[in-house]
Amino acid sequence: MAYHQHPLDVTTLPAWQALRQHREDMQQFSMRDAFAGDAKRFERFSMSTCGLFLDYSKNLISPQTRDLLVNLAREAGLEQAIEGLFNGEQLNASEGRPALHTALRRPIGDCVKVDGVNVMPDVHRVLHQMTDIVGRIHSNMWRGYSDKSITDVVNIGIGGSFLGPQLVSEALLPFTQHGVRCHYLANIDGSEFHELTAKLNAETTLFIVSSKSFSTLETLKNAQAARTWYLARGGTEEKLYRHFIAVTSNKEAAIAFGIREKNIFPMWDWVGGRYSLWSAIGLPIALAIGMSNFKELLSGAHSMDTHFRTTSFDKNMPVLLALLGVWYGNFWGAQSHAILPYDHYLRNITKHLQQLDMESNGKRVRQDGSPVSTDTGPVIWGGVGCNGQHAYHQLLHQGTQLIPADFIVPVVSYNPVADHHQWLYANCLSQSQALMLGKCRNEAEAELRANGLSEDEVQRLAPHKVIPGNRPSNTLVLERISPRRLGALVAMYEHKVFVQSVIWGINAFDQWGVELGKDLGKGVYQRLTAWDAAPADDASTQGLIEFFRGRHRG
Ligand code: F6P
Repeated sequence: MAYHQHPLDVTTLPAWQALRQHREDMQQFSMRDAFAGDAKRFERFSMSTCGLFLDYSKNLISPQTRDLLVNLAREAGLEQAIEGLFNGEQLNASEGRPALHTALRRPIGDCVKVDGVNVMPDVHRVLHQMTDIVGRIHSNMWRGYSDKSITDVVNIGIGGSFLGPQLVSEALLPFTQHGVRCHYLANIDGSEFHELTAKLNAETTLFIVSSKSFSTLETLKNAQAARTWYLARGGTEEKLYRHFIAVTSNKEAAIAFGIREKNIFPMWDWVGGRYSLWSAIGLPIALAIGMSNFKELLSGAHSMDTHFRTTSFDKNMPVLLALLGVWYGNFWGAQSHAILPYDHYLRNITKHLQQLDMESNGKRVRQDGSPVSTDTGPVIWGGVGCNGQHAYHQLLHQGTQLIPADFIVPVVSYNPVADHHQWLYANCLSQSQALMLGKCRNEAEAELRANGLSEDEVQRLAPHKVIPGNRPSNTLVLERISPRRLGALVAMYEHKVFVQSVIWGINAFDQWGVELGKDLGKGVYQRLTAWDAAPADDASTQGLIEFFRGRHRG
């Protein structure tokens, strides 16, 4: 029987019980003391793979903690689960599908079967199809309705059909080829549509309607608006095919929309939306950076897959980060996790990881429908450093919550300006240092006295100056962002999320909660627009509907 059909209650495992006891033993653990007492702590708790260096020494852990967490992973059946992931077991049990995003980055000679059929030839056929269109656009063979070359590509898509491609194409801006500019249109808010199209020329703009289901409201509405916009600016129905292509697993709906069959790139239901940037959903990435760089991205992800699949848990980067998350979420009461990239090019990674983690692990029942007995996925938040230091980092340092953080920083800048990069790197390191060291009462008092304050003032101000410290963080360092390293980084987080879902016994690949909002939205829309519609089920929603209708009456 596959492990996921009857997930264990993780809290009943011996390793869980041992961790509970260990947590009590760690109550007085001090990172300052741990560093002072172990000259090898940094070496002991750091590792590198696939171009990424991870320092996880600034955590509330001892070697014993790591051993116990690794035991937990073993007892929870992680080894079996990883094999199930790569071999195409139906890990997405509520939708009856495997989750085979790893197949998208495997070499052509590999064999990965879905329902007895090897999907690798299909995966590589689509890569060829992508190579063909990217080549035609970059060499100006593909032209708009007035025979001008394509200068701008607009990806119309939302969720996984937006966040991953946007992260990667913007992170790899230094690799841009042939001057194709990529834009993203996600929200149904007309202001977004207006602001974007105001900058574009219909003659030289290509729209990619990117939707696995081809039924997502925001995407279809924006695609419809884009078509109207194109037709109003000299475009014709006859030449629509030069301006609209689609990526979808719902070919019929794309054809019904008016997209030529030849311009439709397939997707498969064994790839989840938030794991899809490696498929043709990544077409805007390939158009921005070229196909060889796109393949480098895939190969970086594949190298992380190999690391994840073959490395023992105590040296396995995604496994270690996942277990640290479990340690804080389930044993220290952490409710959220901050992602803090110190790199302009990685500024969108927090948004992508937010969807990846929260849509995957925001679950409350196990795979078999039984309620979980622990907390599951944390709130993922954060943003680019140094900006966050002048805003929300205050809560990380002195707030009442324990919030573990991942700092991500390149050693080299693509755009050196004076000594800015030295300062950026210094700020990143000093933030994790400040979180760890804090400032104790004695230090706060001594500092105030050194500033010549009276003893009364020292006592009045000292409590405000005390910073508890002992707050955990990981630091991920890379040379500088490249397609290969970015592929490895994103794949690493995918696997981290998966490992946690295995520990908790939940399905990381469905998202039923999101579906409820979509369904209710239709009813509210109907009540906003049809005067004779029955009132909403609750007075609050009805009151707000009437507020809108009152403003739009007549
Ligand atoms: O909103 C939920 C969701 O289903 C995401 O999981 C998905 O990435 C997004 O909508 C877009 O879906 P589609 O690609 O089918 O338009």
